[in-house]
Amino acid sequence: MPRFPAALNEQVGYEFGASQQYVAIAVHYDALTLPQLAAHFYRQAVEERNHAMMLVQYLLDADETVRVPGVEAPQTEFADVVEPVRLALEQERRVTAQIGALVQLAREEGDLVGEQFLHWFLQEQREEVSSMSALLAVVERSRDNVMLIEEYLAREAGGDSPLETGAPPAAGGAL
Ligand SMILES: [Fe+2]
Ligand SMILES: [Fe+2]
Repeated sequence: MPRFPAALNEQVGYEFGASQQYVAIAVHYDALTLPQLAAHFYRQAVEERNHAMMLVQYLLDADETVRVPGVEAPQTEFADVVEPVRLALEQERRVTAQIGALVQLAREEGDLVGEQFLHWFLQEQREEVSSMSALLAVVERSRDNVMLIEEYLAREAGGDSPLETGAPPAAGGAL
């Protein structure tokens, strides 16, 4: 398989891996009866799953082979209320670097259609790193009073991201 579609296939696995990690974080908070934190990460998990399926749709459209990969087991145990959010921010930063590398690769290969497809993902990463950094600041500040975190999320949640309108199509439809 040529380098660019091979790298996109790899990214499908990273997005599913991110989704699985967010499910694990959501379940962790759900078990602690922190419903707003749980809902936030359940939603993030669906978003990551949609990212994977957008990459799948692109590969289908480009007539490239799609190999749906297995994923690494996520971290399921956390020391405190802050650690999952710190992990989530690290994950978003890692994905940002991965998408950046994909853009570089598309450029090297002279694949302008592929590069243009990835621009939405760059915007999405900017937004996700920014909102996860904000959540980390809130969680760190209120670690001894978790209901303040829940209240923050109840206040800030909702309102569709304007990015959703320009999102690439997802195979089978976005959830
Ligand atoms: Fe993603
Ligand atoms: Fe993300």
